[in-house]
Amino acid sequence: MTLDKEESYAFAVLTMSDKGARGEREDTSGAYLQERLAAEGYILQAYAVIPDQKQVIIDRLKALADDLQVPLIVTTGGTGVSPSDVTPEAMNEVLDKEIPGMAEAMRSASLLKTSRAMLSRGKVGIRKGSLIINLPGSLKAVKENLEVVLPVLVHALEKIRGGTNDCGAATE
Ligand code: MTE
Repeated sequence: MTLDKEESYAFAVLTMSDKGARGEREDTSGAYLQERLAAEGYILQAYAVIPDQKQVIIDRLKALADDLQVPLIVTTGGTGVSPSDVTPEAMNEVLDKEIPGMAEAMRSASLLKTSRAMLSRGKVGIRKGSLIINLPGSLKAVKENLEVVLPVLVHALEKIRGGTNDCGAATE
């Protein structure tokens, strides 16, 4: 579903990558997210590439949610099992509520593509009025995972901001 102007939501893209933050790797995943979400009618409000450092991630997520009040924050990278992967640990310190079903849905759909999907520890949840979604780092994984959650995003964002629309009426 493509959004009309009146119901469009702002979004932020946050890429966790030590190499990206040093300027040693092009952020194709972050670029794709900006393009794909804009094509759906979302409006880019912020974008950054930051290193895989827990406190840096916490501070940036809090700034996006608390200060900028961005309704949708999509992150890529740092969800795996390498020593440097700390995105989920940062999320633990940031989220008010988890939405395990969204993360589980992405993992189970991804398992049909690659068994390595089980290595992503990405989380989805809410801080204040912001929905924060962790995606894995690779462009392929970003594409595959984003498509899983796209159909429920508008309904989730409406509910998070206190909308009283009927859940039963919404099919997607
Ligand atoms: N999910 C999908 N759909 N497609 C993929 O190619 N790659 C996996 C997994 N999830 C993958 C995926 C791999 S190889 C890893 S290591 C984990 O995501 C974690 O990725 P990250 O550490 O870059 O966040």
